[in-house]
Amino acid sequence: MKIYEAKDYQEMSRKAANILSAQVILKPDCVLGLATGSTPIGTYDQLVEWYKKGDVDFAEVKTVNLDEYRGLTRDNDQSYYYFMHKHLFDRVNIKPENTNVPDGTEPDADKECARYEALIASMGGVDIQLLGLGHNGHIGFNEPAGSFARTTHCVDLTESTIEANKRFFASADDVPRQAFTMGIGTIMKAKKILLIVNGEAKADIVAKAFFGPITPEVPASILQLHNDVVIVGDSAALSKIPR
Ligand code: F6R
Repeated sequence: MKIYEAKDYQEMSRKAANILSAQVILKPDCVLGLATGSTPIGTYDQLVEWYKKGDVDFAEVKTVNLDEYRGLTRDNDQSYYYFMHKHLFDRVNIKPENTNVPDGTEPDADKECARYEALIASMGGVDIQLLGLGHNGHIGFNEPAGSFARTTHCVDLTESTIEANKRFFASADDVPRQAFTMGIGTIMKAKKILLIVNGEAKADIVAKAFFGPITPEVPASILQLHNDVVIVGDSAALSKIPR
């Protein structure tokens, strides 16, 4: 596990975008695993800037997103499909047919999860998976649990995640109660993992996840066992790790 410290959010975003664009330059038809949430917005903005300058080309890039709320249509501005188009896909030359987000509107959850898992495998797996970190240690929507979920599945969101995400909705009641997410096993199969994290509010969970015991109660702690993980955090988020 390599940890890079950035002085602030902007520098974190720039470093993360550097790592992702290096992947695209080295393998133009790579599979990028992508995340939503507030943390990666600056990273996507930076990639768009470099794309506009001609420094990075998404023409052959393929993407798979980590997760999607269950029940939200693609045109709902809180869906992760909408988020990805707004922050990245509609701003670069990626082919829409090369982008993938779980279909939150598929009524048969098992069918959609199996389809998504098979899709990732058929693409040859993820070359680099971008992750954010939840305050409770979740990655994707893999919430603290008694065991690690292996594959893409449907989850019930915890109260703490509903609470954290309600800022994006009119009220907590409007936050969907379920989501489709890659499993921990799916995430661990990525060839490389890039986790980005910023802000003092995440300092405790960063220390716990990457320097504490490996337990499904802190889902991100499993990343300690992956052989190619890069964490890029700002100074505030890394302020409680042992030096
Ligand atoms: C998003 C995702 C989540 C977020 C996490 C952190 O696709 O899978 O695990 O990465 O909730 O969210 P932010 O970045 O908003 O703090």
